[in-house]
Amino acid sequence: MSDGAGGAAAEGADSPAHTDADPRADAGDGPSVDATDDSGVTVPPARVALVTGATRGLGFALVRGLVDAGLRVALLGRDADRVDAAVAAVRAATGAGAATGAGAVRGAGTDADVVTGVVADVTDLAQVRDAVRQVEESLGGVDLLVNNAGVIDAEVPLWEADPDEWWSVMETNVRGPFHLDRAVVPGMLRRGGGRVVDLSSGAGSHDTSDASAYNASKTAVTRLGANLHLAGFDRGLRTFEVSPGTVRTDMTEAMVMHAGRTQWTPVEDLVAMVLAIARGELDAWSGSFLRVTHDTPALLRAAARAGRPGDDVRRLRVTPWGEDDPMPRGIPAR
Ligand SMILES: NC(=O)c1ccc[n+]([C@@H]2O[C@H](COP(=O)([O-])OP(=O)(O)OC[C@H]3O[C@@H](n4cnc5c(N)ncnc54)[C@H](OP(=O)(O)O)[C@@H]3O)[C@@H](O)[C@H]2O)c1
Repeated sequence: MSDGAGGAAAEGADSPAHTDADPRADAGDGPSVDATDDSGVTVPPARVALVTGATRGLGFALVRGLVDAGLRVALLGRDADRVDAAVAAVRAATGAGAATGAGAVRGAGTDADVVTGVVADVTDLAQVRDAVRQVEESLGGVDLLVNNAGVIDAEVPLWEADPDEWWSVMETNVRGPFHLDRAVVPGMLRRGGGRVVDLSSGAGSHDTSDASAYNASKTAVTRLGANLHLAGFDRGLRTFEVSPGTVRTDMTEAMVMHAGRTQWTPVEDLVAMVLAIARGELDAWSGSFLRVTHDTPALLRAAARAGRPGDDVRRLRVTPWGEDDPMPRGIPAR
């Protein structure tokens, strides 16, 4: 799915990948930001990651990047053969060993505990719980969860949408992350904290005119991340709603709105953002919507140093019409 999923408003909001002329280049690439973290909890860099929907596309690229960066990584997919093939491909590309031990599941590795695969459909809570248990036995407690698995509905107006397909998209894109959060976050909290990354989209921040299930699902998952942030921040939970731009994958290549597209967002930009999150460099932005076509880790670190993050920044909000709107921006939620 594109960052600007169907509909002129979102499409217009999407920009091509940044260039050397981009003002973000001025932000500098200084040391890690002193996060404006008022929870009093320091969350160490992530060591064990779980990435869902990692058999191909963005998820696979993220697994490779995280392994290259030295994390132990679990790759979750819904088909055993595709999971095995993806684990083998990561091992071949990175030289990483498969995880071993009681919980090692896909692939009989004998090397260092680095990468493992687990089979679960994210829409099935029992399968998700079992997969998380296997990962934690094999690699240790998950301290970085990447909710990446996602699907999109037909690019038609809502009144033409197939009801079963519509709900199925919600099941994968909303119930799936809920299941993963439900299975992983309690352990994170017990261990003093952790980070959750949701693959959001421009469709999570903008109105779109078709693929209404995708639009609603990405909005919902963005809200779920902010909800988790509010509930868990003081206990070390950090959440990030990351929009990856428009990366060439099976999903985007199949989309009508991207027919003939020649400019794609480099997947490396997403990997760099998630690595910065994993290292804790962007904790000041917990609860926020980040967009790799406009944000870079360097820009976000600089903006955090300048005190830009806040409870009302990069969040889903209803926009008032102006100063005289009786429902101002600062109206309480209740
Ligand atoms: N590509 C973009 O430009 C873009 C833009 C905005 C947002 N996103 C979001 O980024 C995420 C990844 O997108 P992508 O482009 O990499 O998509 P993709 O190429 O279609 O890959 C989707 C992945 O999700 C897995 N998956 C789907 N349903 C699943 C389920 N029920 N349980 C477990 N795994 C499941 C697929 O597994 P199988 O191999 O078994 O099918 C596959 O590995 C999605 O959430 C998408 O909405 C992508």
